[in-house]
Amino acid sequence: MRFILIVLLLLGIQLKSQQLLPQPNSISLAEGQFLITPSTKFRVKSNSKQLNEYVSRMVKRMEFKSETFFKSKSLQDTISSHEILIEASENIDTITTATDESYELKVSKNQIHISANTNIGAYRGIETLLQLIQRDNREGPYIKGIIIKDNPRFPWRGLLIDVCRHWIPKHIIKRNIDAMAAVKMNTLHLHLSEDQGFRIESKKFPKLHQLGNNGDYFTQDDIKEIVSYAHARGVRVIPEIDIPGHITSWLVGYPELASVDQDYQIENGFGVFNPSLNPADENTYDFLDTLLTELSGLFPDQYFHIGGDENNGKHWDANKKIQKFKIKNELSTNEELQAYFNLRVHKILQRNGKKMIGWDEILDPKLPKSIAIQSWRGKESMKAAAQQGFGSILSYGFYLDKVNSLQDYYSNDPLPATTTLNKNEQSLILGGEATMWSELVDHTNIESRIWPATLAIAERLWSNPNNCNLKKFYGKVPAVSSSLQEFGLEHLSFQDSKLGLITNNAEFSFSLPFIKALEPLDGYKRHQVLKGTNKYTTTAPFNRLADALYTESFSARNFNKLMIGGCTFQGRCKYKEDIKHWLALWMKSSESFQKITYSSKSLKEIEQLAYNVQELCELAWRKVNSPSELNENENDRAIKLIEAIESLKLEVHFAPLKGIKKIFPKD
Ligand code: ACM
Repeated sequence: MRFILIVLLLLGIQLKSQQLLPQPNSISLAEGQFLITPSTKFRVKSNSKQLNEYVSRMVKRMEFKSETFFKSKSLQDTISSHEILIEASENIDTITTATDESYELKVSKNQIHISANTNIGAYRGIETLLQLIQRDNREGPYIKGIIIKDNPRFPWRGLLIDVCRHWIPKHIIKRNIDAMAAVKMNTLHLHLSEDQGFRIESKKFPKLHQLGNNGDYFTQDDIKEIVSYAHARGVRVIPEIDIPGHITSWLVGYPELASVDQDYQIENGFGVFNPSLNPADENTYDFLDTLLTELSGLFPDQYFHIGGDENNGKHWDANKKIQKFKIKNELSTNEELQAYFNLRVHKILQRNGKKMIGWDEILDPKLPKSIAIQSWRGKESMKAAAQQGFGSILSYGFYLDKVNSLQDYYSNDPLPATTTLNKNEQSLILGGEATMWSELVDHTNIESRIWPATLAIAERLWSNPNNCNLKKFYGKVPAVSSSLQEFGLEHLSFQDSKLGLITNNAEFSFSLPFIKALEPLDGYKRHQVLKGTNKYTTTAPFNRLADALYTESFSARNFNKLMIGGCTFQGRCKYKEDIKHWLALWMKSSESFQKITYSSKSLKEIEQLAYNVQELCELAWRKVNSPSELNENENDRAIKLIEAIESLKLEVHFAPLKGIKKIFPKD
């Protein structure tokens, strides 16, 4: 008995080191382990061509992850004595919200068996399998005996990428699809039209893409390539053509669609703008009919997103014909007029076999219940949509451009245990979407804002809440985030290249601990601290220190955790040596940082912070080392330094300050 307990304990310890993200629904340990050897064979029992291709990619990825050169990489038809078998009964070409994504994974000494009802479920199982590979064994790479039964909590687990404010090219979209599939996300929402750019080719209205952007847009062939790439990985692609607002770029080529007759240029600033399609003109609906029919044909997904957000109505108010139209149609407000517009657009989409989805502004009981609402202004609209019988998706709280902490995203449960929605309403909550708006990112740093933050959202939307554990989640993030680099993602490596460019290749490596303890300001506060006439626009350079930072400093998080209950002043620190280690590191690295600030104006702005951090960390180190060591003046000085650091108006903040403040409590 005791022996079994010890074995189970050991297995438990081993399992802890595994990096399953999102956390599967049920895991039980099984006997033995499957050694990955050059003779390992692969077999697929399914007529799905896509699944066979997925498994072929899996074999290559497994070679890399296990450091094994397989003798035979081709998929076998016959049973082998040591094999990985993937089985799926049904083949699904185009994943929908109704697709069965469940799978079972069994690992024993001589066989790994993934079985699923659909090829999509098998993809999810394969990603779990790849995360289970371990190399820390004298006998070679292996996978521990295990039985996993898994299925998603929500059918809609999405990521929105705005390719309009800043252009994001196809190769970056594709490798992010790989990353999404690796963590079982299944919906890519492409935000394709904006005031700042119309980013998809229209053969029917070519001036949209010819005049409506800076030269960068997806051709229809690009779109077909992206959609097919995504489908091969079990990811749906939903297009968003944002109407009736957010359409300035359209009006450069087609000013007749506008509500106000004036000259239009592509917008290069950010915010909410007045231009809006003219809802009182039949030509608008004819135009939309042709355009949306054309674009619907490129996207096999059931859903088509019409935006509908932030239409401020100012240009509607300024147009007499629109005013008369409202009176004639008994539409007393602009909201009612927009609801009328949405119903007309809905008819177009319905004729094309599409379900309509839009931002929460379109929520209106008159719309048919087949449409879905994406909530961004609060959770209330998510609930209201479900209560009115609409499918409902949460994005509020999942805004990646706000660079919140992973903890914030992780805790944003669409359906917490305290939800007031009844069972039927709960079933209408389809899931959620991370939104990557691109005002403050371009192709050089967008991935660092998507990952690892989206890992939090991936687990939140896939896993049973009983299996969601914040501490364990943070424990898994570094390895899983790093593993996404297999697809070429630059969310980690971007920092080195950005710093190289910002410092003009000065020696910045000694400054890194300080830089890695900084975070960009969250929310949209960065816009407010730019000095003078500087403003972020579509053409502003992203070569400020804030652009080179990871969104969350894990070193600061770990330090701040050590400080929770870790020190009792005037007494002792529980984690004294660890705390001193970090303080010494930041003291030295902030000093090194001062030596490279000559190389860039943006670094120069941070110099005062670096001075203050150096001095503060030294005082903190001495106090942690021996609480009685600091005299009263030195204690006061530390408190002044904290105030000075807090009053600096910068685009970055020194994230360990929260913990350091505990060393110098104000009486
Ligand atoms: C939005 O963020 N305007 C949907």
